[in-house]
Amino acid sequence: MFSFFKKNNTSVTLLPVTVDMHSHILPGIDDGSPDVETSVMLVKGLYDLGIRKCIATPHIIGDLYRNNDETIEAALSKLQKACDEAAIPMKLSAAAEYMLDDYFMELLQQQKPLRTLHKNILLTEIPYTAEPVNLQEIVFNIITSGYQPVLAHPERYFYFHQNYKGYKKLKELGFLLQVNLLSLTGYYGKEVARAARYLLDEGLVDLAGTDLHHSRHLNTFRAQKHLALLCKYIRNGKLLNSTLQD
Ligand SMILES: [Fe+2]
Repeated sequence: MFSFFKKNNTSVTLLPVTVDMHSHILPGIDDGSPDVETSVMLVKGLYDLGIRKCIATPHIIGDLYRNNDETIEAALSKLQKACDEAAIPMKLSAAAEYMLDDYFMELLQQQKPLRTLHKNILLTEIPYTAEPVNLQEIVFNIITSGYQPVLAHPERYFYFHQNYKGYKKLKELGFLLQVNLLSLTGYYGKEVARAARYLLDEGLVDLAGTDLHHSRHLNTFRAQKHLALLCKYIRNGKLLNSTLQD
C-alpha cells in the first residue's frame, strides 16, 4: 500500500460508491444518531466523502425498535429540513433494516407495504448469535410476498466464519448480499475483514454500505489508508448501489 502512494503520489479522498444504502443517520429512533445536530454532522461527513444519495435504514427489531412509517417519516423530515438549512445538497430517503424475527413475520403477514431501499429491494439482518433455524422458510415468504431480500453485512455473522459455504447457500436461498465498507478496513476485527474480502473475491457481493451509526465510523472512513484500501477492493462497476435511484 505504501508503494502505491509513492508510485502514484496521489491521495484518495472519496469512498468508492456515491449511493449509500445502509445507515443509521435518522435522529433519535434507533442506536444511531441521537439528535438532529449529530445527524447533520454525519450527513455532511458522508457528503464530503463523495456520497450524493443516502438511504437511511433505521432498525426495525421487535424487542427493541418498533419503528414504523410515522416514526421514520417524522425523523426523515426533521433531518431533511436541517440539511436544507445547512445547505447540504445530499439526496435523502428512508427505508429500514428489518431484523428477521417474529415481529417481522407479523408485518409481512399484514401485507402492508414494507419500507424498501428501491422498488422491491428490502434490507434485512439476522441475529449475531445464531442463524435462524427457519431462514429458508422466511426467505421463501419474503420472496413470494414480492420482495427481493438483501442480507446486511453477512461478513459480521460469526457463525459463517467457520463455514464460508454458508455464504453460497444464502445466495441460493435468494438473498442479495451487502458488505459493510467498514468491515474491509478491519474495524470489526480480522475475521470479519477476511470474510468480507472472501465475499468480494468470490463475486458474492451485490451492494456496499457504510452502516454509519456515529462519528467514530466516519473518522475510520476518513483515514487515507482506509479510503485507498476500499477503492482497491470495491469494483464499483459490479455493485448495484448506483441503481438504487429514481
Ligand atoms: Fe445497520
